[in-house]
Amino acid sequence: MDTEEFRRLWDELDPIGRLPGGGYLRFSWSEADLACRAWFQEQARARDLTCESDRNGNLYAWWGEPGSGEAVLTGSHFDSVPHGGAYDGPLGIVSAFLAIDALREAGDRPRRPIAIAAFTEEEGGRFGIPCLGSRLMTGAIDPDRARALTDAGGTTLAEAMRETGADPEQLGPDPERLASIGAFVELHVEQGRRLDGEDAPVGVANAIWPHGRWRLDFTGAADHAGTTRLPDRRDPMLTFAFAVLAARKEARLAGGLATIGRVEAEPNATNAIAATVTAWLDARAPDEAVLSAILTGFESKVTERAGRDGTGFAIRPESETPVVEFDAGLRDRIAALLSTFTARKHRRGGGAPILPTGAGHDAGVLAAHVPTAMLFVRNPTGVSHAPREAASDEDCAAGVDALAAVLRDLAC
Ligand code: GLV
Ligand code: MN
Ligand code: MN
Repeated sequence: MDTEEFRRLWDELDPIGRLPGGGYLRFSWSEADLACRAWFQEQARARDLTCESDRNGNLYAWWGEPGSGEAVLTGSHFDSVPHGGAYDGPLGIVSAFLAIDALREAGDRPRRPIAIAAFTEEEGGRFGIPCLGSRLMTGAIDPDRARALTDAGGTTLAEAMRETGADPEQLGPDPERLASIGAFVELHVEQGRRLDGEDAPVGVANAIWPHGRWRLDFTGAADHAGTTRLPDRRDPMLTFAFAVLAARKEARLAGGLATIGRVEAEPNATNAIAATVTAWLDARAPDEAVLSAILTGFESKVTERAGRDGTGFAIRPESETPVVEFDAGLRDRIAALLSTFTARKHRRGGGAPILPTGAGHDAGVLAAHVPTAMLFVRNPTGVSHAPREAASDEDCAAGVDALAAVLRDLAC
């Protein structure tokens, strides 16, 4: 694939949801999301692929008869975190359309249907639960709970869907659709610098770290900032501040990661002691034991601190994702294919490195049901979930070539 061809299609999608100061805001069911969905439908139409939405708002473009056999699914998601990068998600969808173009140009015909998916609310950026579309489809989340999820403005998922003409009553498990998928291959920008270090344009995933999100509620007593004596205060901001440091310390001691990147205070006034602070903990680790050590240490240290501050502290899971080991047979088959392929097409002999990731993906949810694999495209900055996320056009084109080779191998 030449890089101009990649750039042409990329440039069509690229402006949607781009913020004036850099970065993207593509929350699910927002104007930007609807524009991405319209773009998807247009791309499917232009290629004569059958386009449909499932009961959970996930989109599919089918090359071959929808649902007629052991489909090979590829694709990713459009939605972004607030001020996210350009590539996380959209790269997998753009690459999928281009890979189908490449197969067609080469005269390949699928013996199993190939479908491109755009999963909804992968980041959980608007409604808090990551991989919501794939979780709903696979029955990993109760549809009543999903419908009632609220965004920062208090709009429920059900309301947001209804505003766009989608029917939230349809949300729920879709076993028939799941049964029609024989394999899923998600291409994604790398969220780290491993491929850069190994001078490889493309890699293959072997695992996703176990991870989760926890809501933290700190409660105290609002009062006047200028008249309340320090010993008389019950200030939840203090306990919150301790929690931020405790998360970092427990993660460092156990050998995992913990982040508090989102916080809300009430009443959020400069001259009033906060009444409540709500924050969200994101924790991830190479294995379940380390993750559990981080959480246990964190909860006990913060509870003890809350006792000293005279505040309340509660921690509650919002989403938990166990470790994912991708299908070893599929991973090895793809790695073998790409080792000769990348050496030939991209003039390097090292093959496609195999690497784990700490980032969550719809592929991780699908992996519990169908053989699933992931391809990563080199990211020279290693940054993700931020505007500096990057990938060169050459590497993106290499990713398309790799995806096309994988789809040919699996489906043609
Ligand atoms: C999604 O990208 C996540 O890892 O949170
Ligand atoms: Mn992603
Ligand atoms: Mn992401």
